Amino acid sequence: MSAAPLFEPGAGAGTVDAVLQARELEVLAHDCEGCRCCSLADGRRTAVVSRGNPRARLMLIGEAPGAQEDEQGLPFVGRSGQLLDRLLESVGLDSNTDAYVCNIVKCRPPENRRPTAQEMAACRPWLERQIQLMDPAVILLVGATAVEGLLGIKGGITKLRGQWSRGEGGSLEGRWLMPIFHPSYLLRHGSLEPESPRWLTGQDLQEVQRRLAQLTAPL
Ligand code: URA
Repeated sequence: MSAAPLFEPGAGAGTVDAVLQARELEVLAHDCEGCRCCSLADGRRTAVVSRGNPRARLMLIGEAPGAQEDEQGLPFVGRSGQLLDRLLESVGLDSNTDAYVCNIVKCRPPENRRPTAQEMAACRPWLERQIQLMDPAVILLVGATAVEGLLGIKGGITKLRGQWSRGEGGSLEGRWLMPIFHPSYLLRHGSLEPESPRWLTGQDLQEVQRRLAQLTAPL
């Protein structure tokens, strides 16, 4: 049997002072807006930090803002985000009240290309701070870039999706992690047939919902 984690992730939801947390997240968003740690800063309209509920137990981490996100300053508000919202809704989760949503990199890459390893590394301190402040019990890694950016694992999303792992070390210690397909991939593979990517994502999100219900159930 593995040793119990030294602290229970997610305990912050309700124990960390909400006013302090909100203030720290505001400072983070303000500082991030001035970040020039990589060249993505040159092309951004705005740094896209987060949306949703920082008191939730669920954090979603995607890849990078696209055109609409850059325009509105909010992650996952374009077509991919709308599909993500519908998928979450289908298991009774609201992306604005039941989750905190962010990305591996905060600035839009030109032509919506994938962020490079250097850009992901340059942006990592912002994500680390978000995880510390939000203290999620469950983190969904939305797409292969999120898996690479957070865990350093390249490729294999088809095998990794739907699999739970427990974070080890640093800001991830003890948190439940699950990769899922990116909604932009699901927009290109729209079949709802059993075993299709979209169907599998529905199964994965049901599993996430079950885990969250377990975590919030009284002992
Ligand atoms: N919009 C985001 O905010 N992130 C993604 O990964 C894709 C679209």
